[in-house]
Amino acid sequence: MQGEALAHATYRAYAKQADRENLPDVAALYRRTAHTELREHFTEQAKLIGLVGDNAANLRDSTSGETYEATTMYKKFAEQAKADGEQEAARLFSEIGQDEAEHREKFLQAEKAITDSPSGATIPTDVQAKPVEIQAGPPKVSSPRTLENLRTAMKGEALAYAKYTLYGDKARETGQPELAELFHRTAAVERTEHFAEQANLAGAVRDTGTNLCSTIKGETHEGTQMYPGYARQASAAGDTEAAKVFKDTANDELKHAKAFSGELSKLGKQCPTSS
Ligand SMILES: [Fe+2]
Ligand SMILES: [Fe+2]
Ligand SMILES: [Fe+2]
Repeated sequence: MQGEALAHATYRAYAKQADRENLPDVAALYRRTAHTELREHFTEQAKLIGLVGDNAANLRDSTSGETYEATTMYKKFAEQAKADGEQEAARLFSEIGQDEAEHREKFLQAEKAITDSPSGATIPTDVQAKPVEIQAGPPKVSSPRTLENLRTAMKGEALAYAKYTLYGDKARETGQPELAELFHRTAAVERTEHFAEQANLAGAVRDTGTNLCSTIKGETHEGTQMYPGYARQASAAGDTEAAKVFKDTANDELKHAKAFSGELSKLGKQCPTSS
């Protein structure tokens, strides 16, 4: 699920880069594929693990994720970045940690509003993303540890975006439009602000030729190794439904790899062979 969430967020960023390079077909393929990763793969896997519960349970899960990020993860990443001499990353991790602490408070207040109506608590919706453009370029950090922490953080942000999107949809479907707004607005902060700022420091987006090569490599790995392996393990454990989902997903990823390879050859480019 983390992989699907990361693919979704990354492909949306790659689509923007393809726009900037005037490659509308590549951009459209990235947007379509991003949609599949979130709305089919991630969502199907979420159903199998019962990710989406009732609104109160979804808020509790969100609160615990934000608590971990605010009090543990980003604190540690900021300290390590500082020790590594990576001032910009240290500042970014600290700022994001503060945002997560605010998200935590909003989710706690919302939980109070929906579970304890006599308290008079209301669902806060005053979360506002300040979107950041992801620029193509090499990493802006040189410490391997900080680079690794940025990549870990991006996975967490992409996952938070995907979860809050589904939690927001659930809130809307259950007649809680304000809660839906809180989740969807927070999701936007995670992806268009936190993920984007981290992607800029980590050099996650490059020119489209390079992006296509890493996409093809990832899709091929998922389609030929990862998902077939998961499918076999699920079958062996008697989880036939999960086995089917993994098998179908493997096939989708192979189709993605093929479609992206097609776009790459239309550009007249080849990926460097890894020796
Ligand atoms: Fe957050
Ligand atoms: Fe975040
Ligand atoms: Fe895919």
